[in-house]
Amino acid sequence: MYKKQFPQQFPDNFLWGGATAANQIEGAWNIDGKGLTTAEVVRKAEDRKKMSMNLVDEESIKEAIQDQTTTNYPKRRGIDFYHHYQEDIRLFAEMGFKVFRFSIAWARIFPNGDDADPNEKGLAFYDRVLDELEKYQIEPLITLSHYELPLALTQKQNGWLSRKTITAFEKYTRIVFERYRGRVRYWLTFNEINTGTWGFHETGVVETNLSAVEKETVRYQALHHQLVASALATKQLHEIDPKAKMGCMLARMQTYPASCRPEDVRAAQLEDQKNLFFTDVQARGEYPEFMNRYFAEHGIELQMEQQDETVLAENPVDFVSFSYYMTTVTSAQQGEEVNGNMATGGRNPYLEESDWGWQIDPVGLRITLNEMWDRYRKPLFIVENGLGALDQLEAGKVHDDYRIDYLRKHIIQMKEAIKDGVELMGYTMWGPIDLISFSTSEMSKRYGFIYVDQDDDGKGTLKRIKKDSFYWFKQVIATNGAQL
Ligand code: BG6
Repeated sequence: MYKKQFPQQFPDNFLWGGATAANQIEGAWNIDGKGLTTAEVVRKAEDRKKMSMNLVDEESIKEAIQDQTTTNYPKRRGIDFYHHYQEDIRLFAEMGFKVFRFSIAWARIFPNGDDADPNEKGLAFYDRVLDELEKYQIEPLITLSHYELPLALTQKQNGWLSRKTITAFEKYTRIVFERYRGRVRYWLTFNEINTGTWGFHETGVVETNLSAVEKETVRYQALHHQLVASALATKQLHEIDPKAKMGCMLARMQTYPASCRPEDVRAAQLEDQKNLFFTDVQARGEYPEFMNRYFAEHGIELQMEQQDETVLAENPVDFVSFSYYMTTVTSAQQGEEVNGNMATGGRNPYLEESDWGWQIDPVGLRITLNEMWDRYRKPLFIVENGLGALDQLEAGKVHDDYRIDYLRKHIIQMKEAIKDGVELMGYTMWGPIDLISFSTSEMSKRYGFIYVDQDDDGKGTLKRIKKDSFYWFKQVIATNGAQL
């Protein structure tokens, strides 16, 4: 009798590695022809529990342009990957990385977003990064837009609120797909696209004097343009480099109901639908009815063009990627809220939390993997997961057993999901090397296997130091997840 075999372990070609973003690592913000980006005008948060990324208006942008230092804008200095990339990639190779996720800074290629010609020095930098990865047979996984766009596009046309930004993006993606053709197998369009519902950091739209409904409309309008741009980039990639694969990227936040009261379950379902909406469009090719209803009931009217529906329908992504840091709880009534870097939700009494108050939920990862596999039936890729913590450097060592514990628990759940039948392509842990925090611009919120000697004020030698977790992850990869 035929008996179906269920996979019991990580597949042989499983992509283990780490993930970063240009504006959190590169530095070199104003050299070799690079233009200023939206991420580089966001001031650091003065309080470590606060977020800074959406406190931007015309005034603060003016102030930022006048301030030519990196002191208040740590994303301008990153960890100077621009000059340390060889050393950093060598360390990733030593851990056995199969894949390295990084993003291209659009403003390094087109300083103003829509210049007539690309900046050769910018293109050449990513060539050098790819050369280095090839040397160690590490697959690149490139994000085209990770929380930044050329600031000039915000100043000129209010970022993604303008349809013209789709055209500028198409030109940028064509240039990079042609330049790196045959060298990059995996691409992502927009990092955590759903977080555009929180504003500027993702949409590049300055929102002044808007009512709540207007604000929500503006955000979904900008996101509609991104969804169309993402589908067009998928089309281009398939034409230019048919072997390459395009993925979408969602900040996945599974929502649990606060109780088994049907009203709470329904409230949680709606939150979950609003989170998955973006992947629904990108993977299934159309706006789901629940969202059309939501827009109608909330007075949100979006401007779409006739061809948009066809573009979305004809160009779904090849795989589905997401970040996973936490789950949230929702009830039909208001409850106590917990921190996230953008989202807040109800507190789950069964979970522990990180130094920054993010609730830790490894089992939630298995739940989410199962749900997403059932919903999309496309290969899944976890492209971010990790623990931001206050590490102590003592006598040249960092004993980060809490990080090992966090990662181990999540990887165990990934293995369970694979046994459940989920097709999982890979896992890139967030911030394999300490970098600038996205939400607060701190350096002291460290995620890495590799410690970087730099403090919140930018002081330090930038020396790279291996933490205990470095050796642990090396062994995880070497045994393909068998030894955790
Ligand atoms: C994700 C982002 O939201 O979370 C990353 O894609 C970010 O850019 C990561 O760094 C962790 O968030 P934070 O705020 O701790 O840096």
